[in-house]
Amino acid sequence: MQSKRVLIFDTTLRDGEQVPGCKLNTKEKVELAVQLENLGVDVLEAGFPISSPGDFESVTSISRILKNVTVCALSRAVQKDIEVAAQALKYAKRPRIHTGIGTSDYHIKSKFNSTREEIFQRAVQCVKWARNFTDDIEFYAEDAGRTDNEYLAKVIEAVIAAGATTVNIPDTTGYCLPHQYGEKIAYLKNNVPNIDKAVISCHCHNDLGLATANSISGVLAGAGQIECTINGLGERAGNTSLEEVVMIMQQHKDLGYYTNINCKLLNPMSRAVSDAMRMPVQPNKAIVGSNAFSHSSGIHQDGFLKDAETYEIINPKEVGADESKIVLTARSGRSALAHRFQKLGFTYSRNDIDVLYQEFLKVADSKKEIQEEDLLQLAHHYHNEVEVAV
Ligand code: KIV
Ligand code: ZN
Repeated sequence: MQSKRVLIFDTTLRDGEQVPGCKLNTKEKVELAVQLENLGVDVLEAGFPISSPGDFESVTSISRILKNVTVCALSRAVQKDIEVAAQALKYAKRPRIHTGIGTSDYHIKSKFNSTREEIFQRAVQCVKWARNFTDDIEFYAEDAGRTDNEYLAKVIEAVIAAGATTVNIPDTTGYCLPHQYGEKIAYLKNNVPNIDKAVISCHCHNDLGLATANSISGVLAGAGQIECTINGLGERAGNTSLEEVVMIMQQHKDLGYYTNINCKLLNPMSRAVSDAMRMPVQPNKAIVGSNAFSHSSGIHQDGFLKDAETYEIINPKEVGADESKIVLTARSGRSALAHRFQKLGFTYSRNDIDVLYQEFLKVADSKKEIQEEDLLQLAHHYHNEVEVAV
């Protein structure tokens, strides 16, 4: 089976930056953009230029500096938005305008007080406006996750006919279940006659914790691009996490997909985003959390020390993480204790460890985690007792 490349559209600097408290200035955005280019993303959404002069400046500066990736700017289905996005992208080697409108009845009625027919016309119109500036146009059907499939298919067919080269199917509210999102993509594949003229893009939010699963389901159904952010940052519960979808495709080669991402840079990239945005990464976050490669229970530690693959499906080196950790808590076992003593230069017999382990448990029950100093103290006491006994 021949593997298929899935494009990675990074929106850390746009959807990710919408997180309260995560706003970045132009310098910070440019620095991260350069790192994202090195990471190997295919498309980088640099911002929403009409939203503020600062964001306009960021998109312009990023456009000037990046050489290989497509730089994308967001706009609403409003002529002025599109003109300003095009202006901000003026220096981009590969500019993309991302424009669109809400297509679910929630958006059509509550947000726009409009009709399906009127929104259909506006969708086509915004793509035509964008075509005046570039051939690379991505159309988003906001809240596609809750949009009636038949109507969505008509809109998608029309925007492709008008010149959209990528069609983004956002599950804006993170509502879909994986099989439903996959079925939506399959429905478009089967019911939009000109669908082969455009790349289908997945843009999933994480309100039910399903953004990653939904994006993969979309790819399995025929989507060719995933929109995602570093550390899964984004509106409310966040967006699809870049590191997760990339590593799923990497670990499950049998699925037949690959990306251009240099996985060894995933952890450094995660730290750079977390530092710049001052947004800590949850310790149990897959791939980039501080506990992603830590083992703390006795059963796991014993298995891991015999063969790492017993409890680790990813080698931390593959994703640029620190080496796996054996953490000592009251749930740890003798082999973990012996291993940690060994790392400090103490090699003990089975009998020594049996005695030390009882002392270790007394300390461990009163602490969350046993540190190096605690081990040194245990060793010190033990040596003294042994000497006295002799
Ligand atoms: O979630 C969403 O629908 C979006 C669009 C603006 C692409 O972010
Ligand atoms: Zn979004």
